[in-house]
Amino acid sequence: MRKDIEKIIISENEIKMRVDELAKKIDAEYSEKNPVVVCILRGAIFFATDLTKELSIPLEIDFMSLSSYGDSTKSSGVVKIKKDIDTDITKRHVIIVEDIVDTGLTLKYINDYFEKHNPASIKICTLLDKPNAHKTDLKIDYVGFDVGNEFVVGYGLDFAQKYRNLPFIGILKKEIYS
Ligand code: IMP
Ligand code: MG
Repeated sequence: MRKDIEKIIISENEIKMRVDELAKKIDAEYSEKNPVVVCILRGAIFFATDLTKELSIPLEIDFMSLSSYGDSTKSSGVVKIKKDIDTDITKRHVIIVEDIVDTGLTLKYINDYFEKHNPASIKICTLLDKPNAHKTDLKIDYVGFDVGNEFVVGYGLDFAQKYRNLPFIGILKKEIYS
């Protein structure tokens, strides 16, 4: 697997330190709020588990799965719910935990869908953000790291379902996906 990686851009230790920082902020903002943390499958699994383990506030965890890229590296812009959350989020504080924001179309869709259930609030927490690729003006509340427009894998992020279990974030060699 590692031979397919051009470069490690965020080490395991850097991820851990940043997750701890984000957890401190969320802890401070959500004491007394009992938020519903929604992990977007499958990419956000490691981030969501590591983040919630660092939180000391009471919270609930739920999962949502959407149609993704397939095996390509470009967003289709077409999003479909494959698995919905089981929690009633009406009047609840929702934190959406995502692996990466690229065009932002996926999160825009989830955000608009959740809004219809009249939650008390919705905030978005993403491990990675590609600010130069955004195609929506959706506000992102917590960002782990900004990255460039290269295709990255590891710590939950995949290419064709591979590389998710790498413990770091790395840039995939171009010849692998082009
Ligand atoms: P968006 O709708 O364009 O923001 O796409 C977001 C989704 O595309 C993320 O949840 C990822 O699953 C996937 N994605 C976008 N960029 C990358 C990348 O560099 N590596 C792996 N997956 C990516
Ligand atoms: Mg994803």
